[in-house]
Amino acid sequence: MSQDGTTAFTDAAATWNRRFEGDDFLFGAEPNEWLREHVAVWLPGGRILCVADGEGRNSVWLARQGFVVDAFDIAEVGVAKARRFAARQGVNVNYSVADCASYDWPRASFDGVAAIFIQFADPAQRERLFAHMTDSLKPGGTLVLQGYTPKQLEYRTGGPPHASHLYTPELLRQAFSGLEIIELREYEGDVAEGSGHRGRSALIGLVARRR
Ligand SMILES: C[S@@+](CC[C@H](N)C(=O)[O-])C[C@H]1O[C@@H](n2cnc3c(N)ncnc32)[C@H](O)[C@@H]1O
Repeated sequence: MSQDGTTAFTDAAATWNRRFEGDDFLFGAEPNEWLREHVAVWLPGGRILCVADGEGRNSVWLARQGFVVDAFDIAEVGVAKARRFAARQGVNVNYSVADCASYDWPRASFDGVAAIFIQFADPAQRERLFAHMTDSLKPGGTLVLQGYTPKQLEYRTGGPPHASHLYTPELLRQAFSGLEIIELREYEGDVAEGSGHRGRSALIGLVARRR
């Protein structure tokens, strides 16, 4: 069994639906810290897309900050939970249940894309996913992305157990060479995001703007 509690990535929706079944928020109900730290890159009221948003911790928080938020995830159980969370918090988010391959990606539409721990993607899937994310940004729009580096395989405190899914600075620089890199930081930290991401972690964060 992997760190993500899966035996394979072959039936992602079923796997993640199972993981999101309980009442708890697997990655907590608070937003991701890298996202919180970098939210000021977006002007108030901007339109943000949360990619593979899970149970809604990031989309709901962004909506509470006054952004206009779209979000999707492959796991309908996660999206249903996110919808209830948004309702309890009194905010609107435009949620969809969708695989990143079949999501109807709007082009040049978002002031921001939030891509927080979306390392379900293998290299081929990741190439298509990153291209969609880039294309969905308006010129001047900014991507905020967080993931794990290969060193995370030593910590095993979250993320997939596959080296090919993890990010290095070189990989991200190359993948987003069409964007202006504002910040790219490889660092270690003590993460406390639900039971899913907990403990010493090898992290990487990117902020990059479409020209
Ligand atoms: C590690 S979780 C992160 C969730 C959320 N971004 C967060 O930070 O709380 C990864 C998410 O990717 C979603 N996912 C996995 N495969 C997907 C796919 N092919 N298309 C869209 N979402 C997918 C899962 O359902 C899960 O919610």
